[in-house]
Amino acid sequence: DWNMPDYVETAIARIREQVGDEEVLLGLSGGVDSSVAAALIHRAIGDQLTCVFVDHGLLRLNEAEQVMQTFVQNLGVRVIHVDATEQFMGKLAGVSDPEAKRKIIGKEFVEVFQEEAGKLRNARWLAQGTIYPDVIESAASKTGKAVAIKSHHNVGGLPDTLNLKLLEPLRELFKDEVRKLGVALGLPPEMVYRHPFPGPGLGVRILGEVKKEYADLLRRADAIFIEELRNTIDPETGKSWYDLTSQAFAVFLPVKSVGVMGDGRTYDYVVALRAVQTSDFMTADWAELPYALLKRTSGRIINEVRGINRVTYDVSSKPPATIEWE
Ligand code: XMP
Repeated sequence: DWNMPDYVETAIARIREQVGDEEVLLGLSGGVDSSVAAALIHRAIGDQLTCVFVDHGLLRLNEAEQVMQTFVQNLGVRVIHVDATEQFMGKLAGVSDPEAKRKIIGKEFVEVFQEEAGKLRNARWLAQGTIYPDVIESAASKTGKAVAIKSHHNVGGLPDTLNLKLLEPLRELFKDEVRKLGVALGLPPEMVYRHPFPGPGLGVRILGEVKKEYADLLRRADAIFIEELRNTIDPETGKSWYDLTSQAFAVFLPVKSVGVMGDGRTYDYVVALRAVQTSDFMTADWAELPYALLKRTSGRIINEVRGINRVTYDVSSKPPATIEWE
């Protein structure tokens, strides 16, 4: 276990020594690891760091704004924000197979990133938020989903094509240490203690074909659920239900069902709420959320998100169900 202030000083000195006066490029995803890596490297070398943030249009509500606010306004980091929503939606049109969607999103992500990276002629380094468990995992296995996940997350393949040296300042740290480091570097605790979010984002939380209309509805429903989880405190532990769950989100079902609103009949989409508790994400129990929390959430979603008239709660554990629906 590290003493954080000392660790920060040591890590900064090491980055400065490694990089010298060369320029560094970093793919910022908004996730904990790349965010902490960006904050640390920026503390060490300031404007020698340029981050590229690719918005695939499948992020959570206001996520892009929050990333820009945190890094550009608050920390003064140089960030290139690429809104590639149209491009991703175009490639995803007509595709409904989950693995096919993942492949498209991953491939497109690398392409957009590479295009931006190619413009930064002076970059000599590619920084990544690789953490210790990633190092172990990729050493242990070269097949399966876990590696596919990492290769997407860490924008695999880029060093070869761009001829960049790898800078991985979090390689020795476990997740909890990365979080402490993030807080020590001034990142907002809500960002650092956030639930994991898959690289393909809402792309795997919209069942079947992805459409912008669906993503817009899902984002709003999901944000209401997360807000209610954050605002509901469990009296026994004093913790919020957000902190008592490992992952929680809404899933968009492209199915219409009948409802009533005022004098009229509605025929609108359904969302499922998913909340799980797990220590390793390999197995997971569905969370026994308080009924009052579920009731407030469903009431708000149905009232506030026109286009959704029914909310269900997923009571499946993993295995045999997975955490995500795709
Ligand atoms: P499942 O659904 O397999 O999810 O039980 C286990 C954990 O992995 C995350 N997950 C992904 N993360 N790209 C990612 O970066 C993916 O394609 C992907 N699929 C699942 C999921 O959110 C959960 O934390």
